[in-house]
Amino acid sequence: MTMSYNISSSEVEMEWWISSIPKVELHAHLNGSIRNSTLFELARELGEKGTIVFSDFEHVIKKNDRTLCEVFKLFDLIHVVTTDHKTITRITKEVVEDFAAENVVYLELRTTPKRNDSIGMSKRSYMEAVVDGLRSASSNILDINFSCDDLEKFSKLPTKKRIIVRLLLSIDRRESTASAMETVKLALEMKDMGVIGIDLSGNPTVGEWETFFPALKFAREQGLSVTLHCGEVPNSVEIQEMLNFRPGRIGHACCFQDEEWRKLKLYKIPVEICLTSNIRTETISSMDVHHFANLYKENHPVVLCTDDSGVFSTNLSNEYALVSSAFGLGKMELFQLARKAVDFIFAGNEVKMELLKVYESAARTLEYN
Ligand code: IMP
Ligand code: ZN
Repeated sequence: MTMSYNISSSEVEMEWWISSIPKVELHAHLNGSIRNSTLFELARELGEKGTIVFSDFEHVIKKNDRTLCEVFKLFDLIHVVTTDHKTITRITKEVVEDFAAENVVYLELRTTPKRNDSIGMSKRSYMEAVVDGLRSASSNILDINFSCDDLEKFSKLPTKKRIIVRLLLSIDRRESTASAMETVKLALEMKDMGVIGIDLSGNPTVGEWETFFPALKFAREQGLSVTLHCGEVPNSVEIQEMLNFRPGRIGHACCFQDEEWRKLKLYKIPVEICLTSNIRTETISSMDVHHFANLYKENHPVVLCTDDSGVFSTNLSNEYALVSSAFGLGKMELFQLARKAVDFIFAGNEVKMELLKVYESAARTLEYN
């Protein structure tokens, strides 16, 4: 009895400690990060209106382990209940509040701008609904700060009340070159609203690199940062093309061969590591063979991320706890891992400097034993 009490109390203490360190989230999909309670509430409402059959929906949502392909079917279902302006604004607000509540101090939130003529939604109006969500969160959370004007104040705000959010626009692999280009142009138009980059995501078994390349190249030429979902399925040719593009970061890197590891390390491309997502979608069979261990040991740039905290029932603190238990990282290493993520953010130097101040101040107050 005493033994189990001791173990659980130290686990609780570690959980508390992890949740109190400032964290940086660089790979979070808006609709994948939806609160479960919100998802069910929305589905129930549509069920009552007869738009969907709630029990079918509930069955799919409650399933825990899904293959990568099943996950994309689930996203199509989620989009049925989430994609109207009001709901997108609400989800954005809640997602930002949830990250802030676990001490995420900088969030790059990505989402795929969607067009739905039947409800008068354009890619632009979808993104404006997202920005409205950021603004409504800022009224009670501080600090969605688009101008950087009062960044100095940032580090002085109480914890759980400070979060800087930047947006990445995702290109879905089902899109055409013209549609991808439209998203990039929209991102450029929305630079003063916190949009700083482009992501390529969606079902990795769909679409060709050549389709997206012109838009991604244009994005970079115009000063946007680019991150790519890379190597979620084995596809050597595409992985090499992606690495040769030299994106600012890549997500996942699950199905790499020796040559691809060599290239990744040579180019020092930071990897967004999403442990729970990789295990849940069975792209990695178990934690003990996860590539995090090797990349971390070799000091390759890595950042822990959630991917889809709602869909995979996780949060960023949980991802840090997993790394600690699976790979034996102690408090000092976890803190350094969190702090190092600042180097890989897409926002500019002003934001980086402010975040480093937050870490300096946390380092003075946190205990490491
Ligand atoms: P949204 O862009 O806000 O609608 O977030 C959900 C979308 O993100 C999905 O429809 C996918 O296109 C993308 N996504 C989420 N998780 C993954 C993943 O693990 N791999 C590739 N794409 C993903
Ligand atoms: Zn992702």
